[in-house]
Amino acid sequence: MTASSKEAITVEVHLAAGGAAMAHEVRLGLTAKSKELPPKYFYDERGSQLFERITELPEYYPTRAEREILTNRSPEIVAAAGEPGTLVELGSGSAAKTRHLLSAMREVGCLETYVPVDISEEITYETAEALIEEYPGLTVRGLVCDFEHDLERISSEGGGRLIAFLGGTIGNLYPDARRRFLSRLAGLLEPEDRILLGTDLIKDRARLEMAYDDSAGVTAEFNKNVLLVLNRELGADFDPGGFQHVARYDAEEAWMDIRLRSLVDQSIRIDGLDLTVRFAAGEEMRTEISSKFTRERLEEIYAEAGLEMSGWFTDSADDYALSLASKA
Ligand code: SAH
Ligand code: AVI
Repeated sequence: MTASSKEAITVEVHLAAGGAAMAHEVRLGLTAKSKELPPKYFYDERGSQLFERITELPEYYPTRAEREILTNRSPEIVAAAGEPGTLVELGSGSAAKTRHLLSAMREVGCLETYVPVDISEEITYETAEALIEEYPGLTVRGLVCDFEHDLERISSEGGGRLIAFLGGTIGNLYPDARRRFLSRLAGLLEPEDRILLGTDLIKDRARLEMAYDDSAGVTAEFNKNVLLVLNRELGADFDPGGFQHVARYDAEEAWMDIRLRSLVDQSIRIDGLDLTVRFAAGEEMRTEISSKFTRERLEEIYAEAGLEMSGWFTDSADDYALSLASKA
């Protein structure tokens, strides 16, 4: 662990030394029968910037829809959450929309501490520094970690918390991992804590596929960024030009299935893993899923994890939902 502090900021970094976790996961993914890479490795500094550009694309509605809800309903959400003193945010990124919640908390005088939790070190520092300027008196305790492995680290923050997981990032977890994650989160909740979960809702295929394959090609760049991360972190020699971005909606699984398709027969050397991987022309490697939900399905998902939905807020087009939940 490394820690740094400046005025009211502390940022703790809990990432495995030498990228050991990344090396292990990437080896598993690239040697599997159907190749796969974990989406959390999109988000180096460039990847986080590309994601910010995605949020501004005309085709990518989830951010706008979530912002609409937070703009209009944050005071109600904060009241329903019992005016918590602490806002913990999982996958906080730039926390652009989170300002609506923080401002609503400040308005009623309950705002004390913000705990951004993100795997991306650069964006967590930037966000922490921007927020203490914008919210004088706010204490920011950043945690740079993998929220799937290190979720327990949020438990030292005490009760009376709102734990936000915005942007639809829960949709990037496979159902099994999601179940484990929500059950662990439920186990960390005090009775007065509330979860605020952002989820994209099922809609027609054309809109979904456009949102993940924009005409400006930003999502394609974001997808291929994972290859550049592996080149830098693991000494791989991927040529992003040798792969094509693929985004298809799988209606049976209710998820966007995002892949990189090899354009040619090619061998990739990964020095850091002492591994050579062959891709056939046309072979696809999954880099992300993005699950879509209904209210009924989400109620079941909460119940399976020992949680209970206590609030449901959608945008005017019913494209996206924020739900509040507590320990059942
Ligand atoms: N909440 C923001 C950002 C969403 S992008 C929004 O709504 O716009 C997803 C964020 O989750 C990124 O900042 C990424 O770095 C972070 N993230 C993804 N997987 C993670 C993991 N396993 N652990 C911690 N952070 C993760
Ligand atoms: C962060 N996450 C919720 C985004 C999503 O919509 O699944 C990541 C993303 N991938 C492609 N575009 C956006």
